[in-house]
Amino acid sequence: MPIDSPRRGDDFSPKAFSWFPGHMLKAQKRLAEEIKQVDVVLEMRDARLPLGSANPALDKIIARRMHLILFNKSSLADAHASARWEQHLTKHGQRVLFLDADTKRALNLLLPQVDALLRPHQQALRARHIRPPLPRLMVVGIPNVGKSTLINRLAGGRKQKTAPEPGVTRHTQWVNVRGRYELLDTPGVLLPRIADEHHALRLTWIGAVKDTILGHRRVAEALLEHLLAHAPSALASWIGSAPGAGAEELLRQVARQRGFLARGAQPDLNKAAQFVLDQYRAGALGRITFESPPEANRSS
Ligand code: G4P
Repeated sequence: MPIDSPRRGDDFSPKAFSWFPGHMLKAQKRLAEEIKQVDVVLEMRDARLPLGSANPALDKIIARRMHLILFNKSSLADAHASARWEQHLTKHGQRVLFLDADTKRALNLLLPQVDALLRPHQQALRARHIRPPLPRLMVVGIPNVGKSTLINRLAGGRKQKTAPEPGVTRHTQWVNVRGRYELLDTPGVLLPRIADEHHALRLTWIGAVKDTILGHRRVAEALLEHLLAHAPSALASWIGSAPGAGAEELLRQVARQRGFLARGAQPDLNKAAQFVLDQYRAGALGRITFESPPEANRSS
């Protein structure tokens, strides 16, 4: 479930995002407790928003646990940008992996990395003639980043409940993964720390925040503006003609093309906005990454 807010409305107000309900606080405390029981924390972020889809508080909670950052939905991100991010983060000592949790290949990429992380500790135990226990894994991340999808895949397709509503009482259950690992069956949910409206929009584009908080029209128009500035040719090939000047004009163009008409045969811009967001999230508007690593000095 994407983040919802009790303060709906078209106007962005920082207060709308500073809402931190008591049950989330409880969930974060429980997360800190659960992390103590695991050997490897699999932190999921969105490959399209490598920093903005993180919660910096996690580093503190993780303390010295082994930590692998998984950039999910990488087939929706720009491949060159992902390569630059990988290089940048690796240079800064992070262990990262770009993948698509909804593909079979995900585990072939992931498990060797997990093994490599665990190897030194396991070798040290074996050197002392101690048989290493099954390593314990946990998946954490912001809403809608793909945590349940990855857990299902790791658990071998066994029916998995989706992420619980934060704060709902649950029992910790460990699922055996291929006889080699134990996995916490429910993910740890983190909230992103939303810096400003720009950040809120990006989180909405990737589906971590509900469209209704800022409003479909606004979210879609901001996305179109971003695409006009940063990916005009992808936009033109999706529209099939030269894109109109400005986001509102583009929405009219989409509405006319698709026959989205409101009363009086006026273009239905709300319907067009929803269509644009659906198309973008399905990958039809091209592969786009919304942040560049600092070294690249090409922030978008
Ligand atoms: P969560 O537990 O972190 O909240 O996320 P969840 O696994 O429920 O995934 C959220 C949405 O992201 C789902 O789509 C899921 O299918 C999609 N998803 C997960 N991994 C990937 C990926 O690697 N690539 C892409 N493109 N999408 C991914 P949904 O539309 O909400 O539901 P569904 O009907 O598709 O399942």
